[in-house]
Amino acid sequence: MFVVIFTFILLFLTFVSALFCPTVICREHMMDQCIQIVEDLVIYTPCPDSSYCPDFNLYNLTSQQCVEGVEDNPIDLKCLEYKEKNDECDLSSPCIPNFYCALTENAGICKPKKKLGESCTQFNECASGSVCDSKKCIPNFSIEAGKPADSKVACKSGIIRSGICKKPSISIGELPVECKSNNDCNSTDGTLSECVCVPGLKGQAYCRLHNSDKPMLQAVELIYSGDIMDGTISLYEALNYPLLQYADECLKNDAKEMKMYQKLKELKSTCEGRLLGLSIILLILS
Ligand SMILES: *[C@@H]1O[C@H](CO)[C@@H](O)[C@H](O)[C@H]1NC(C)=O
Ligand SMILES: *[C@@H]1O[C@H](CO)[C@@H](O)[C@H](O)[C@H]1NC(C)=O
Ligand SMILES: *[C@@H]1O[C@H](CO)[C@@H](O)[C@H](O)[C@H]1NC(C)=O
Repeated sequence: MFVVIFTFILLFLTFVSALFCPTVICREHMMDQCIQIVEDLVIYTPCPDSSYCPDFNLYNLTSQQCVEGVEDNPIDLKCLEYKEKNDECDLSSPCIPNFYCALTENAGICKPKKKLGESCTQFNECASGSVCDSKKCIPNFSIEAGKPADSKVACKSGIIRSGICKKPSISIGELPVECKSNNDCNSTDGTLSECVCVPGLKGQAYCRLHNSDKPMLQAVELIYSGDIMDGTISLYEALNYPLLQYADECLKNDAKEMKMYQKLKELKSTCEGRLLGLSIILLILS
């Protein structure tokens, strides 16, 4: 009897700790509810004209009613003007690629970036592929765990705490890693990432990336080297990996994450790839 109860409890525990992912399907408009949850099914139906479906979070689908009127769009992004060599620059008017904003007492001036091995004082002063560390341009992601560094881009792992490079945290298994719970989302330093449902027909779940996974490091390096537009898009993809690639396309007009992703890609083409938006980076990182 005891054994039976014990086995039952064990089974029960295993059962509740596994993530359940609903099947998400899209239909033509039927009623005033744009997201309906019917047992283990999520049904999305776009709202009719003159109303809208309030934006929802892909990670947390809840029932949602269509709302009369026009949705106001809080995402306000602009193309920024990039400054040329010897022009004045600052955070909101950065320099063209291969130049950095050398800070002086009054204003910044766009100066050519330093090469590997040259001396430097500012974090973004070194050419792409290198980083300013201890006043010298060194290769990106080159300092071993346990050694001091000035920034995470200098650390091999891309992770720094209190000025010391940490051990790499790389996902165990092929990306994207399928999962049933966070325990399946292990990494080389033993930290677990979150197992999240990808809204779609199959009801599958995947692990979020760890901080030393390639897509994470590449995004950080792009932003750091001044390629803010591509860096921002890459970072957004990495932080939401693999939802943006795998979630059902039909959700893209109302899912917050997919709308933002769409918007970023639009901006990349309208601003000819040379855009920035500090506000957007803050938004993404928040
Ligand atoms: C999911 O969304 C609901 C309603 O918007 C909210 O109350 C809840 O806190 C959210 N849960 C998570 C885990 O974000
Ligand atoms: C480091 O820089 C090189 C040269 O730009 C680049 O090819 C490489 O992808 C960078 N490393 C990472 C992990 O981003
Ligand atoms: C995660 O991986 C680490 C390193 O390989 C290992 O020591 C640890 O036991 C694993 N943890 C889990 C929960 O699988």
